[in-house]
Amino acid sequence: MEHSETVFDRQAIAEQVAALGRQIRADYQGKPLVLIGVLNGAFIFLADLARAIDMELEIDFIRVASYGDASASSGSIVLRKEPELDLAGKHVLLVEDIVDSGLTAAWLRNYFLATHQAASVKICALIDKQERRAVDAQLDYAGFQISSGFLVGYGLDCAQKYRNLPDIRAIKA
Ligand code: IMP
Ligand code: MG
Repeated sequence: MEHSETVFDRQAIAEQVAALGRQIRADYQGKPLVLIGVLNGAFIFLADLARAIDMELEIDFIRVASYGDASASSGSIVLRKEPELDLAGKHVLLVEDIVDSGLTAAWLRNYFLATHQAASVKICALIDKQERRAVDAQLDYAGFQISSGFLVGYGLDCAQKYRNLPDIRAIKA
């Protein structure tokens, strides 16, 4: 891909995912854990993360749409696909590709606390992008921190493309 540079290569991603998996297992061992991936961006991260958590768990997905321009979230969020598992009494770990303004993560945390009787809700993002943070997203787990930039690959898209890149790249303006 032209006009882009690798910021996190597959090796660095694999190491972070393995470390997150060990940490999550240590924190949730013996508890009923449900991973909920936020479609579409989290599908690759969730697939790798789930295999790095060496304990029994369940997996489901949610989809939300956020209205704004193509690259910035507006905060007006609509639920497109509900989770289908019964979450009552279970520990929910939301799996996000990237947290930017934090509006989506904050909305999702609220949704799970208000609508499902989950025992707890935590958020795990592969990337914590801090420059445009508008609300306290309360990330519990994050693989990487960056200040700014637009990233693609490993599930992250630009106009639905580049999700299949094995490394994470920054698009140069
Ligand atoms: P937030 O509500 O502003 O935190 O938006 C988070 C969502 O915006 C992510 O789940 C992505 O879908 C999208 N997003 C934010 N930054 C990027 C990026 O650098 N590359 C690809 N998608 C991004
Ligand atoms: Mg997303």
